[in-house]
Amino acid sequence: MAHNRVTISNGSHSNIKAFSGNKVSVVLGAQWGDEGKGKVVDLLATESDLVCRCQGGNNAGHTVVVDEKEYDFHLLPSGIINTKCTSFIGNGVVIHLPGLFEEIDKNEKKGIFLHLFVSVFDFHQAVDGLQELQRQAQEGQNIGTTKKGIGPTYACKASRTGLRICDLMADFSEVKNLVLQYQSMFPALKVEVESELKKLKDYAERIRPLVRDGVYFMYDAIHGSPKKILAEGANAALLDIDFGTYPFVTSSNCTVGGVCTGLGIPPANIGDVYGVSKAYTTRVGIGAFPTEQLNAVGELLQTRGHEVGVTTGRKRRCGWLDLVILKYAHMINGFTAIALTKLDILDVLDEIKVGVAYKINGKRIPYFPANMEVLQKVEVEYEMFSGWKTDTSAARKWNDLPPKAQNYIRFVENHIGVPIKWVGVGKSRECMIQMF
Ligand code: GDP
Ligand code: IMO
Ligand code: MG
Repeated sequence: MAHNRVTISNGSHSNIKAFSGNKVSVVLGAQWGDEGKGKVVDLLATESDLVCRCQGGNNAGHTVVVDEKEYDFHLLPSGIINTKCTSFIGNGVVIHLPGLFEEIDKNEKKGIFLHLFVSVFDFHQAVDGLQELQRQAQEGQNIGTTKKGIGPTYACKASRTGLRICDLMADFSEVKNLVLQYQSMFPALKVEVESELKKLKDYAERIRPLVRDGVYFMYDAIHGSPKKILAEGANAALLDIDFGTYPFVTSSNCTVGGVCTGLGIPPANIGDVYGVSKAYTTRVGIGAFPTEQLNAVGELLQTRGHEVGVTTGRKRRCGWLDLVILKYAHMINGFTAIALTKLDILDVLDEIKVGVAYKINGKRIPYFPANMEVLQKVEVEYEMFSGWKTDTSAARKWNDLPPKAQNYIRFVENHIGVPIKWVGVGKSRECMIQMF
């Protein structure tokens, strides 16, 4: 009978079983940057085998304090202090080679591998500065970039004129055409092409032993022996090119998708996603900032928190914690836990406010506005807390914290709907309370 020839599947079509491999834990900025990602990465790196950067460039400035020594990292992953841990800079990162070598020379020269990054030239940095002048002249307002050439370099990548490391290992004479293109747009741009090419040749030779094919490198790391792998986000959710406060953003995806595209790994291999947030909010550069405090509170947060940009030395703007942006960052990133840093900075305040909703014309709006003119206009609804007025910097466990501080932390956790795993009470590695 015909149906005798019908094969009914028993569900095992093939003997090949997909081995999902090691997971990659991710650390991401949940605000406008400088939340303390470097500190969290350094802490996790003490137990990691591999730490990777996946996006951004040396617009990032990540501080790590260990044994009273302060390090600042811009392109090198912050896990580099752990000598057992390999560092990897993925394809999503744009690298200014002189900056990278300066940083390598300043720090220990140990296991760093690089992939197909797009190179930032000195002239990209010059163009970044010229574009800022142009914005100021034409629109009366610039972005306040770090002038590290990030925007122009990612623009080159998107318009397919960028120089990747594999190009640097082969023929990179095309750079001449790129310079000509820029000079036609910016006649004031002076570039010594021949000396730029010579410098590149020298960098190419220095970099050659560090170069790996990133896709194979990451595949081996994921599918080899059990390993703890960490991805360090740079910049932050509200600076993301797609989801941030556009146009006052950076030029890469600083949210979780950037980890897959910036390292060449499957989404299934993303493990924990840790969001980092200060116990208040800061922002460097221009753009809407609903909970900003242009008053004595803002000044106190700025001075007590030493809120000065690591990369540019600019004063950071300061304000109350904004839970609307944290919830929004969680919607995009799916945080599995949060690190709440700099709680100690709030120790002296009589009263602490937390932004819980935005209102327009007195009515709550149920979303984070994509339009910056709308965001500029929102009125913030605050929840008030009385301050704990106690020094928390020596606290090392939950029970060491004053009940009012515990109350503040629990409120934040419940409001975002994500557990807080760490609370920061000082700059150093040990000044971190681990909750679970
Ligand atoms: P990143 O860019 O996210 O890595 O952060 P930055 O390094 O740019 O800025 C964070 C600043 O806060 C650095 O100066 C850190 O040393 C400091 N910091 C981090 N966590 C804490 C904390 O819990 N308490 C205090 N007082 N400072 C902290
Ligand atoms: P980390 O990793 C804070 C901001 C700049 C500017 C905007 C665009 O240390 O948290 P860009 O040079 O990227 O074109 O500048 O983005 N910005 C940061 N602000 N921390 C950062 O990195 C930042 N990276 C970029 O200030 O407003
Ligand atoms: Mg920083």
